[in-house]
Amino acid sequence: MMEIHQTQTYKGFRWQVTFFFLFSWLCHSASGQLHYSIAEELKQDSVIANIVNDLGLDVKEVKSRRLRIVSRVSEKFFSVNLGNGDLYVKDRIDRETLCRAAPTCFLTFDAVVENPLNIYSVKIDIKDINDNSPIFFHDTITLEINELTPPRTHLVLQNAEDPDIGSNAVQSYRLSDNQYFTLNENISIDGSKILELVLDKPLDRETLNFHELILTATDGGNPKRTGTALLRIIVTDYNDNVPVFTQQVYKISISESAPINSTVTVVTATDKDDGTNGHITYSFSRTAENAFHTQMFNINPANGEIKTKGHLNFEVTKHYEMSVQAKDGGGLLAQSKVLIEIKDENDNAPEISIASLSTPIPEDSAPGTLIALIEVHDQDSGENGEAECHILGSSPFQLVTSTSRYYKLVTTSALDRELVPWYNITILATDRGSPQLSCIKYIKLDISDVNDNPPVFVKSTFAAYLPENNLPGASIYSVYASDPDAGDNSKIIYSISNINTEDFPVSPYFSINIETGVLYAQRSFDYEQHKEFQINIMAKDNGSPPLSSNATLIIHIIDQNDNAPKILYPSTESGGSPFFEMVPFASVQGSLITKVIAVDADSGHNSWLSYHFIQMSEPSPFSISQHTGEIRTSRMFQEKDILKHKVVIMVKDNGEPSLSATVTLSLVVGDHFQHVVPQINNEFNDGEPSSNMQNIYLVIALALISLLFIIAVMLVIISKCKESKPPPEFPTLNTNLYSQFDPRMLSNYNNGTLGLPYAYNVCVALDSSESDFSLLKPNQNVPVENLIDADDSGLGNESSKETLSPVEVKQITFWTFFDGLQL
Ligand SMILES: *[C@@H]1O[C@H](CO)[C@@H](O)[C@H](O)[C@H]1NC(C)=O
Ligand SMILES: *[C@@H]1O[C@H](CO)[C@@H](O)[C@H](O)[C@H]1NC(C)=O
Ligand SMILES: *[C@@H]1O[C@H](CO)[C@@H](O)[C@H](O)[C@H]1NC(C)=O
Ligand SMILES: *[C@@H]1O[C@H](CO)[C@@H](O)[C@H](O)[C@H]1NC(C)=O
Repeated sequence: MMEIHQTQTYKGFRWQVTFFFLFSWLCHSASGQLHYSIAEELKQDSVIANIVNDLGLDVKEVKSRRLRIVSRVSEKFFSVNLGNGDLYVKDRIDRETLCRAAPTCFLTFDAVVENPLNIYSVKIDIKDINDNSPIFFHDTITLEINELTPPRTHLVLQNAEDPDIGSNAVQSYRLSDNQYFTLNENISIDGSKILELVLDKPLDRETLNFHELILTATDGGNPKRTGTALLRIIVTDYNDNVPVFTQQVYKISISESAPINSTVTVVTATDKDDGTNGHITYSFSRTAENAFHTQMFNINPANGEIKTKGHLNFEVTKHYEMSVQAKDGGGLLAQSKVLIEIKDENDNAPEISIASLSTPIPEDSAPGTLIALIEVHDQDSGENGEAECHILGSSPFQLVTSTSRYYKLVTTSALDRELVPWYNITILATDRGSPQLSCIKYIKLDISDVNDNPPVFVKSTFAAYLPENNLPGASIYSVYASDPDAGDNSKIIYSISNINTEDFPVSPYFSINIETGVLYAQRSFDYEQHKEFQINIMAKDNGSPPLSSNATLIIHIIDQNDNAPKILYPSTESGGSPFFEMVPFASVQGSLITKVIAVDADSGHNSWLSYHFIQMSEPSPFSISQHTGEIRTSRMFQEKDILKHKVVIMVKDNGEPSLSATVTLSLVVGDHFQHVVPQINNEFNDGEPSSNMQNIYLVIALALISLLFIIAVMLVIISKCKESKPPPEFPTLNTNLYSQFDPRMLSNYNNGTLGLPYAYNVCVALDSSESDFSLLKPNQNVPVENLIDADDSGLGNESSKETLSPVEVKQITFWTFFDGLQL
């Protein structure tokens, strides 16, 4: 009934007035008090009712009775038109302002009239109209809900407010469409409604971290009014996600030459969580195994960058296997593996080592002889570690592959120590890497000597010229042979022998210093006896077996003018009596009388003879041919001429100084022998006394010689006794001459060669009383047969008997020759 009334009030003024009449009446009749009911928010000057009528007063009297409204509050809102008695709204009446949320709201005032004074109480009920919409206190409601919040969780929301009351107040709420949330209204203990947000479905921040919903509150007015608020729901993170590496295994290969601090790789892990829950730090897992593998690397905790910490070396470690972990702020872990393979670089040069080396090797080693075993090693792998060996330069060697890493160094051709005594073999090893690395090894190979070279004389034939009457023991010549071999193989020992063993032995005549090759004459030579010697000199080295070579030494004895001419005819042997020659008186000028024949044992110039007269009594009827020695008449004889001539003929050789011989010749001029005989007899008579005298002299001389001989023999005996004391020694000279000589070698060279101690004794005579140059005195140590060939064929006998004078030999020859001429 009330609501309808209200509705009428809204519809029109007329309807309203009608209603008020009815209503006023009802009130008046019920209580004697005026009671009106009006809606709030009526327009100003709206007429509520005719209060004068309702009070039962006369409109004409109202003015005079001074009707007025007395109220502290209501005066402001109502007034009375005294002209017609209408009560109307003076000011805006807002129920919500006047009464707030009170269920009833009214204003009261007293209507006072005078004459008589009557006071009427008037009560005006203020009815609510839906003039307010629901309002949320915050336009935007922000909620933080952890993603882990379980479903069916209720969250209290602040209610919307609507100052209207009753059905005009908030009746319902609505939430915009969504999957997660619904609304619930709960009634609290005090009966008020509690608006709750209910979580229907689990939240996941990682899927949707923010929800915006519209919350609408609707009241029950007609028309309904609504109010909205924006509901912002922030889903907060829970550390519900572990970090995840982008790869299960990171495989990287890196060169071993990578410098320090170079980036190997970057490991990355993600965490869907937010904030610290999503903040990842990287590290290497802590295990003993890992500690070893990670010693060369650093990981950046912030970004997972793995860098090298030290110098990698393929030759030490070829791969690293590390486990890395990523940890978020909530402590959740993820692990991954990092496999780092180190790539080889050619950073190691090959190395050459000599496994075995035989040096020196003999020069007669056959081609193919193994000298050394060489090992080549390269620490790198693959091609970087494959090394090849070569010999640099040209040498008679080659490398033969033995196994992959071993080479045999062998000779390729014959060696000759005399040409190349040692080799510096250069071996180069190169690997196949890029860039190529190489190394060089030097091998010094010594070639040891083999006695493959005989001693060589500078000439095959030597010629020596030795003047006769030389000093025995003096050196006369020196031969030299060289031997290119080394050591004992080049130590040369000289020896002499005859060219032809059938000749006389050479040893008594010459000796050779076996070390120096100096040749000594053992005795004085006589050109007239030996004009030439041919000696075979052998140089033999000390190798094993020894090698030798021979040379011929021809010693030419040079003539000296040591022989005076010897007159053969006329003979001077005939007891001193001059030689007679008959000269026929009638000889014509130039007739040959006789011929002086002389010889000179010397040769060459020394034997060129010239013939001269000496002691010539003035112009002689004879002349002598200077060259032929022929004596001829130089003119015819005359009667007055002396018949008996004595000429002295000198034969002179051409030597320097020249030697000469004289002969006295008696030339008797006559026709018959008888004619001449007296003269000859005279001559003999003249000679007789002298002949007797000569005999006496001869006897005396013989006696003297015998005496001298006895004295000489005694002296010899005395000297022999003295000789029994030890012979003088010459240590200084001995050591100087033969100090480096091995005495054992002596026995080999005694044959045909003078033994050393003996040779020395002969060569150097320090004491003439002890050692005679011309006399070969055997030393106790040296057998006599070594000195003088006992088996002498006629010529070697000189030592035992008095030497036959060469002149005598020649004389015999010439006698024979002359006899031949005469015959
Ligand atoms: C209503 O609220 C009370 C106390 O606040 C609670 O115990 C009750 O379970 C709630 N009812 C519903 C249906 O949520
Ligand atoms: C590597 O980096 C560290 C840190 O930046 C630095 O201290 C170090 O000197 C670097 N080493 C080289 C060799 O560059
Ligand atoms: C070998 O030759 C090399 C290069 O010429 C040199 O350095 C080295 O000293 C030589 N070795 C010998 C033992 O002479
Ligand atoms: C040298 O001569 C000796 C003796 O005459 C002889 O035995 C030897 O074989 C000769 N050597 C050579 C190389 O002719």
